[in-house]
Amino acid sequence: MARTNGLGADELFVSFESWTRSRKIVSIGTNAGSEPLPFQGWHSFKEAFAPEVVARAVKESKRPVITCLDPFGGSGTTALASQFLGIEPTTIEVNPYLADLIEAKLGTYDPDDLTSDLGRIVRATSRHSGRIERFVNLPSTFIETSETARWIFDRAVALRISAYLDVIDTLVKAHHRRFFRALLGGMLISVSNVVVNGKGRRYRRGWEKRNVTTAAIDAAFQKKCADAINEVHENRYRRCRDYSLMRGDCLSQLDRAPSTDLAVFSPPYPNSFDYTDVYNVELWMLGYLGDSSSNQTLRRSTLCSHVQIKREFRPAPQGSLRLARALGKLRREREFLWSRWIPEMVGHYFHDMHQVLEKLHDRLNPQGEVWAVVGDSRYAGIHIPVDKILADFAPRLGYEVINVEPFRSMRASAQQGGQHQLNESLVVFRKTT
Ligand SMILES: C[S@@+](CC[C@H](N)C(=O)[O-])C[C@H]1O[C@@H](n2cnc3c(N)ncnc32)[C@H](O)[C@@H]1O
Repeated sequence: MARTNGLGADELFVSFESWTRSRKIVSIGTNAGSEPLPFQGWHSFKEAFAPEVVARAVKESKRPVITCLDPFGGSGTTALASQFLGIEPTTIEVNPYLADLIEAKLGTYDPDDLTSDLGRIVRATSRHSGRIERFVNLPSTFIETSETARWIFDRAVALRISAYLDVIDTLVKAHHRRFFRALLGGMLISVSNVVVNGKGRRYRRGWEKRNVTTAAIDAAFQKKCADAINEVHENRYRRCRDYSLMRGDCLSQLDRAPSTDLAVFSPPYPNSFDYTDVYNVELWMLGYLGDSSSNQTLRRSTLCSHVQIKREFRPAPQGSLRLARALGKLRREREFLWSRWIPEMVGHYFHDMHQVLEKLHDRLNPQGEVWAVVGDSRYAGIHIPVDKILADFAPRLGYEVINVEPFRSMRASAQQGGQHQLNESLVVFRKTT
């Protein structure tokens, strides 16, 4: 057996349990508090599920798991957990900032090399006063000017961010540029005048008096990078270091994905939460969006789970009486809905999810399983039981329903009626044909 520093190959590997510190979690769903885990704090991602769901899927899968696929990558939980479990991950993500964040976590680095580049960034940034022109195409509310009443970034803060971006652009290694840009993205909201939560973006109380200094930005960036490099170092021996990342809409990417033993994912919920909106600050500031049309294009290529943009709605799929009834009720109550397009959005959501399940069936090896964490919605008192509707479709798509397990109640958003409890569930389907 190959030995390194007196350790056997197995002892050298950082196990899944060491990564998660064998913690006990109350729920495998979103908000299970996975942020303190190494890598998961690089960018706060409220919608991430607990990596334990991936470990459980691998353990309970009927088929031995060598490969795992996630069509809705998000913060990369499935892919990262797979690496610790020794399973080769493929992940798809439509949002280019999140795709880079995922790739930054999955990549292999020499930590000393990263530390040298961090030193380079710190030295060069201290001599660079920044270029506000970098942000010339951004929406007018982003950067302080004499003409705007409210702005997300004070001019001095924007200048400092631009200096970091300019210097990061000069690094020779592409994966280092991605690593530092992803980390800078992870601290943008903390130095801005806004906060972002499930309801969207709002200005901080007393933001006008907030004074984020250059020194505070420098200290926060250096600490964030030093902590991340430490995590990379401590977790560099994952059982699998390979990965495939596919950028773009999973509905078009899935046909090209490699075959897989297991799919573990959490799609957007049909709750009007628009991920492009939520990560808009990172997308614009880091240069992923150049103009409003690229913003619209990105929004249109996400799963249909919101009504914020006009799009051509596709008809709901056949095969679920439950869905047909819920859509009928939504149409009858149209005038009481906060957007008249909600029935069409919900129909289109299930059209997209039906396609995802259909395409996954093509990619799954015999008896391969789908493990999906999904969330219900409610509009004008009309409940949309996403878990049960997907289970209705499963047999006709060639799956056996193994489990539908509600595990958490979410508070409905104000737009969805506020006081009601909504379920988050785990659904497990196994390929039969
Ligand atoms: C609920 S989050 C996934 C969270 C992930 N399980 C984690 O733990 O980080 C859903 C993700 O799907 C992405 N998404 C939305 N529509 C997509 C599409 N059509 N193709 C690929 N990704 C999409 C969103 O950008 C978001 O990152």
